[in-house]
Amino acid sequence: MTTPTSFTRPEVEQRINELLGQMTLEEKIGQMNQELPHAPPQLDALRAGSVGLLITEVTALAGAGVDAAPEVRAEICNDLQRVAVTESRLGIPILFGRDVIHGYRTVFPIPLGMAATWSPQRMEQASAVAAAEASAAGVKWTFAPMLDIARDPRWGRIAESPGEDPFLGSALARAAVRGFQGDDFSRPDKLAACAKHYAGYGAAEGGRDYNFVDVSMRTLRDVYLPPFRAAVEAGAATLMSGFHDYSGVPVAANRTLLTDILRAEWGFQGFVVSDWNAIHELVVHGVAADDAEAAAKAVIAGVDMDMIAGVYPGQLAQQVRNGHMPLSVIDEAARRILRVKCLAGLFDQPYTDPDRAARVILAPEHRALARQIAQESCVLLKNADGLLPLKADSPFKRIAVFGPLAHGRSELLGTWTLDGRGEDVTSIADAIRQEAPKHFEIVTPSTLPDEALYHMLMGVDLVVLVMGEHPRRSSEAASVSSLELPAGQRQMIESVCDAGVPVVLGVLAGHPLAIKREVDLAQVVLYAWHPGTEGGYAIADLLFGKAAPSGRLPVTMPRATGQVPIYYNHRNTGRPAANRGDSSRYIDLPIAPLFPFGFGLGYTTFAYSDLRVIKRGASVEINAQVTNTGASAGIETVQLYVRDVVASVTRPVKELKGFQRLSLQPGETQRARFALSAQDLMFTGLDDRPVFEPGAFHVWVGSHSADCVRAAGAQGEFEL
Ligand code: NOJ
Repeated sequence: MTTPTSFTRPEVEQRINELLGQMTLEEKIGQMNQELPHAPPQLDALRAGSVGLLITEVTALAGAGVDAAPEVRAEICNDLQRVAVTESRLGIPILFGRDVIHGYRTVFPIPLGMAATWSPQRMEQASAVAAAEASAAGVKWTFAPMLDIARDPRWGRIAESPGEDPFLGSALARAAVRGFQGDDFSRPDKLAACAKHYAGYGAAEGGRDYNFVDVSMRTLRDVYLPPFRAAVEAGAATLMSGFHDYSGVPVAANRTLLTDILRAEWGFQGFVVSDWNAIHELVVHGVAADDAEAAAKAVIAGVDMDMIAGVYPGQLAQQVRNGHMPLSVIDEAARRILRVKCLAGLFDQPYTDPDRAARVILAPEHRALARQIAQESCVLLKNADGLLPLKADSPFKRIAVFGPLAHGRSELLGTWTLDGRGEDVTSIADAIRQEAPKHFEIVTPSTLPDEALYHMLMGVDLVVLVMGEHPRRSSEAASVSSLELPAGQRQMIESVCDAGVPVVLGVLAGHPLAIKREVDLAQVVLYAWHPGTEGGYAIADLLFGKAAPSGRLPVTMPRATGQVPIYYNHRNTGRPAANRGDSSRYIDLPIAPLFPFGFGLGYTTFAYSDLRVIKRGASVEINAQVTNTGASAGIETVQLYVRDVVASVTRPVKELKGFQRLSLQPGETQRARFALSAQDLMFTGLDDRPVFEPGAFHVWVGSHSADCVRAAGAQGEFEL
């Protein structure tokens, strides 16, 4: 276990004081200015010290795959760095930032898929690989982890998020920061992390990206803030403020969020960067008349660095000179940025060893980890009659693999993969063909007109249909109004079923899609998200039983778009949801989701028994027996849910408070143990402050959030 970087080091503060003492106002503001590397590069600006940081991307939507992002290399960064270090007056190094979101050249599953592993350990390992590769290319700062809890799956950026739950999101946040930064992000293979998009961005009204957010302060604190707090406590060096308007005050001008909560309450000592052009957008939001007012509002609120708007360098010096802006505000922002640069080791080692990239990038062990994590991220939603895994004695000998994404390569990488390459990927069809045991004959037609399809189906025993979304359909600026599969895909599965051939449906997606009809039709449904560089092989491994699925949903899957927002930890209402009568329901749609949060099948089964609740002083231990009741080994993600029965404010019907992955052999029993203290049961009370209220709690230990309604789940009750 790593310990976070300490921000308060006397030698660092002394170095910063010395620097600040020598810097001109323009140089200080230069540190607060993040620019794009222009072609030709802005060497004069680097010499003048008017650029403190470079973002190594050139367009706002590069991460959404809309525009190509130029490659970054150690040599390019070193050349620019040399100018800053040797030709500027004070030699302050540049910090190179890039979106390294779920891998660098070795791409891991999209963050929502990473969350489906329910494994902080895997998140930490994947982030460490991303850091090792990106840092070898000269990057020293990643704009990750993205920590926006998302309860409305229409939002395209749900693909980048940890899902709907603050407890799972917090565990993953800590792990990602540890993976990127380690215990010392000055190490050459580490990056400074940036927790984004602080805060509440995932609650965009209507699921429309960039839309305003109007959740209560209580919901913000209990649902959306915890992963950010976890990242800060884990030592995240930086935070990015969101584009959005929270409750009438855009975050780039929101002092309550950026200073009162982040700094005064949580003690954050890193720096805050705005999102892309967001300071200028304060004018568009309508809270600033012009860039001058926008700059003043942002810096006073607590945005230390301007990402590419150019508003700080253009406006702030004048405001300080005419007495409208205290110099201390600029000093403080520059100090925070210099502190991160010092902690990143840039003053001592500003250059990157250009030989490291060849050894590190796409290393075999990185690919192996990506394959394992992709296996663990896939969620098996249905497996009628135990059709999977396909063993050597399977009655299904001749298998056809096709569908709109069966031959996709770059499509497997998902959103925000600036450095992943389609050429590194083996398609699902090719991987299945390569990995199939001899017993099977695999056919992989590419395009099929209807008649040829029908003809081909006559000769096959099983179809593996690979469908879902292109990555551009679930990313930034890509929200959807319908969660159904893209046009034509349902008809394709219907045609195959009409021909009487059983279907294994593989779904690649960034949204949790409403696929009720498809789930009814297919014998098997494997939800694979966008699984990354090794996704093709991972899916082949699961198909043929070289690995067993263990992924669990990090989001609720709706049965229809009309159900959203839908999430398991909702409040009760005075007329709790039920399908009948005067209850909180729809009259034309059942209230239950298609699959609940936490759900996922494996190739074996588990039973829960003997729940015990033992009070130990001010805390309580909860444990239950879990038995592998099937014939093969498997991993069970044991989940602990709690309900606070009566409180001063209404509380969720259920909240995740613990989880554990147990690896069990057939017939083996283990006891899953959890401990809860008053601290774990706190919430935001009547006065918007955290409280613990003693009283009765219900507790469930089971295999998913709706398990308590099944006999299999163990349930109990305790008082604290
Ligand atoms: C805008 C996105 O919202 C943010 O996530 C990203 O890090 C920046 N652009 C930089 O590319």
